[in-house]
Amino acid sequence: MSRIAYVNGRYLPFAQATVHVEDRGYQFSDGVYEVCEVRGGRLVDEPLHMRRLQRSLGELKIAMPMSLPALRVVLRETVRRNRVRDGLVYLQVSRGVARRDHPFPPPGTPPSIVVTARSADPSAAERTAAAGIAVITVPENRWERVDIKAIALLPNVLAKQAAKEQGAKEAWFVDPDGYVTEGSSSNAWIISRDGKVITRPAEQGILRGITRSVLLNVLRAQGLELDERPFTREEAYAAREAFVTSASQIVMPVVRIDGRPVGNGAPGMVATALREDFHRHSELI
Ligand code: PDD
Repeated sequence: MSRIAYVNGRYLPFAQATVHVEDRGYQFSDGVYEVCEVRGGRLVDEPLHMRRLQRSLGELKIAMPMSLPALRVVLRETVRRNRVRDGLVYLQVSRGVARRDHPFPPPGTPPSIVVTARSADPSAAERTAAAGIAVITVPENRWERVDIKAIALLPNVLAKQAAKEQGAKEAWFVDPDGYVTEGSSSNAWIISRDGKVITRPAEQGILRGITRSVLLNVLRAQGLELDERPFTREEAYAAREAFVTSASQIVMPVVRIDGRPVGNGAPGMVATALREDFHRHSELI
């Protein structure tokens, strides 16, 4: 079955799904994106993703490409046309097409929008979670506005590639003071020896992950103690458990950091329980 993409008002087979060479997303990475999990054909926590999209666009002074209700129809239609039951829907909005000049294009230039959807194998994800993943650490070298879900991801791409070349699945950025900020495409968490769940405040140099926000409710429901503060690389090495969160991985146990085993080197009990419980606390629409 050929995949379909929504591009600026039309549903097109991938072979014809193209954007203009002078799209500002292509020329300048001048745009934002969202990734939303699809589960049983429904979107997970879509209202939270839409709210973050609106915030990202607002911070960059890019207009919404269409009304929110219309956008929600497009997301669903793209999921439906690609027959995605379990997987991801991806949405990207750029500042539109204009002659390549750095300042914003003339007012009224319509933003560009692309939506794609793809299936993922839930049992493969469960196998990965049962084994846990390895992470490496890399120096933080991103811009200050990582709170905006911008498509400018070059440092993230380089960090992820470095992880891959070292046999790991994720890279954690470490700031100049030795504190972990977040992963190249996920938020970072540890559980200390005394059982506290530690994650960096969303106001300090990380993306406010939707999975992160929902997981805070799961923690509360499970009666776990949260310590929302930055943690160092050394604390992570000494942690009882570690894990990452994102729309594509939900809660993914981390079993090695820079080649050192976390805890006993197997996925932690708390991370595994949080993963199992997550979707009871998320909104499926
Ligand atoms: N990444 N931090 C970064 C840098 C991310 O790119 C992501 C998500 C997250 C987690 O956010 P959320 O829980 O809302 O997915 C944190 C997506 C999945 C991606 O780039 O594919």
